[in-house]
Amino acid sequence: MSFPVTRLRRMRQSEPLRALVRETRLVPTNFIYPLFVCPGAGIRKEISSMPGVFNISVDEAVKEAREAKSLGLGGIILFGLPEKKDETATGAWAEDGIVQRATRAIKKEVPELVVIGDVCLCEYMSHGHCGVVQKKAGGADYEILNDPTLEILAKTAISQAQAGMDIIAPSDMMDGRVAAIRKALDQAGFINTPILSYAAKFASGFYGPFREAADSAPQFGDRRGYQMDGANLREAMREIALDIEEGADMIMVKPAMPYLDVIAEARRRFDLPLAAYQVSGEYAMLQAAIKNGWLDRDRVILESLTSIRRAGAQIILTYFAKDAARLLS
Ligand code: PBG
Repeated sequence: MSFPVTRLRRMRQSEPLRALVRETRLVPTNFIYPLFVCPGAGIRKEISSMPGVFNISVDEAVKEAREAKSLGLGGIILFGLPEKKDETATGAWAEDGIVQRATRAIKKEVPELVVIGDVCLCEYMSHGHCGVVQKKAGGADYEILNDPTLEILAKTAISQAQAGMDIIAPSDMMDGRVAAIRKALDQAGFINTPILSYAAKFASGFYGPFREAADSAPQFGDRRGYQMDGANLREAMREIALDIEEGADMIMVKPAMPYLDVIAEARRRFDLPLAAYQVSGEYAMLQAAIKNGWLDRDRVILESLTSIRRAGAQIILTYFAKDAARLLS
């Protein structure tokens, strides 16, 4: 007496048969590699909570871009560490801002590589919040001013597009930002520059190491006023639907691994290209265990990325992008 399941088990014992029936495949074009660009030259400063990830100067960023291209990655996303921060995020939209400079240099040397610009103000604001802050009269309390923030975000998007950015990715979670950026880009003539919206971005403990990498920890308060409550799946779908109505061309869920159900539901409901961000804390957690010899590096890199792909994201922002591409080749 034999059971049908026996054949499935036999098939699993042979890699050629496993490959034949594999439902989810990873390719290097799935991956977007984040870069943290800082002023100076010849700089590569490792981020202590993210082994293998560095603050790099523009010249080093060009080298990384070349490597990303030769590994066949889907692209890179740029974050900036400006010379100085202020309360109007000047460094975010200045023509010679750090991200604008890096974009021009990369586009000149590696024009075919897709370059995505993270549009947010937290790295450029002295207080580390993603928007314009107004202190409430008398108290230590404060509020984020939505509409003045939109104007700065729109200026930032235009200056990035002028520098040659291929895709604009607003990550701030202000209301109406996708519409404001779309309108501004269109008016400036960038009608063909797509928007990848961080549409469902949860207030998360897993962003901890990023705030060291981008030097963007809020100096007071936290981001729960504008990022989403991790308990809310239906609200996430509403946020995504709104961003699509406002003109988003691609949507993102962030973080990835703790929100695989959100990715899967977004895949079922919406037909736009779907991205997910395996964030700094997900990377740090895996790296810490790998360093201790507690987890098998190659297996967990590919398994974690496969799970995100299987949930439905075809674009994965990950600090493992280069490692994963090498493992796949
Ligand atoms: C900017 C931004 C953050 C991340 C991406 N864009 C930080 C935050 O929202 O607090 C996090 C990425 C990561 O943790 O790897 N707003």
